[in-house]
Amino acid sequence: MYYVLNGKFVESKRCVIPVTDHGFLYGDAVYETMRTCSGKVWLFDEHFKRFISSAKVMGLEIPYKKSEIYEQIVGLINKNSLKEARIRITLSRGSNELDFGPAKNPTFLVEAKKLTFPPKELYEKGISAVTFEIERPMAKVKTTSMLPSILAYQYALKKKAHEAFLVDHRGRITEGSMSNVFFVKNGKVLTPKKYLLEGTVRKLIIKEARAKQTTIKCRDLAKMDEVFISSTTKGIMPVTKINGKKVGDGKVGPITKKVTEYIGVTE
Ligand SMILES: Cc1ncc(COP(=O)(O)O)c(C=O)c1O
Repeated sequence: MYYVLNGKFVESKRCVIPVTDHGFLYGDAVYETMRTCSGKVWLFDEHFKRFISSAKVMGLEIPYKKSEIYEQIVGLINKNSLKEARIRITLSRGSNELDFGPAKNPTFLVEAKKLTFPPKELYEKGISAVTFEIERPMAKVKTTSMLPSILAYQYALKKKAHEAFLVDHRGRITEGSMSNVFFVKNGKVLTPKKYLLEGTVRKLIIKEARAKQTTIKCRDLAKMDEVFISSTTKGIMPVTKINGKKVGDGKVGPITKKVTEYIGVTE
């Protein structure tokens, strides 16, 4: 398998970055995870827009044009003989003399791997989630500093759940550890409005399902009729259990099914 490292195909065994790289030392990097859908990069424009905005906040200069990055991605998909791919682009600040100052030689890495999905059964029966109190600083920026999400997800695994919902210090649900969250109450789709990564799939759902962005408190969870999560690589996944309690009747609800149809991306 190959990667594209700083514009060149490199075999995985030889694909290395300097130990002084800020991405490795400090999580000083931005990234995007994408997927193909019938061979095309799904929502590439949206992902690239977010990549530009993350890089801007971090003061990082993207070393290639949008079209060049698209070419690198397509070239890598072909080089790795992939039909459908999970793609990641990562840009780090580069290296310097071990401080937080300006750095040289940014690392730009493109990955393209086989796209895999959670088992079908989880889409049919729904997943379980837990709540976890933690906040992500600069949540709008897709940075590689994902420690709060990692801790939340590890807590979920410890509780034998599939996802963790992050809850801020005021008891508001913000997002999943690696997804956005949606709730259905009296036929209306609701989603948290602040302190979250504005997911590309979330944006689509807000438009298609006219989801309302609002404050959702952890204590309101018991009142929800349906819950689902969204992300590029998993699409829409129903959540039928939270903190060990059934959501609604514990089955995948009709609105979740309808939204899944609108979005229409599966394996
Ligand atoms: C913290 C977080 N929120 C939301 C998402 C969903 O974003 P998208 O729909 O662009 O995949 C992700 C995806 O990885 C994420 O890591």
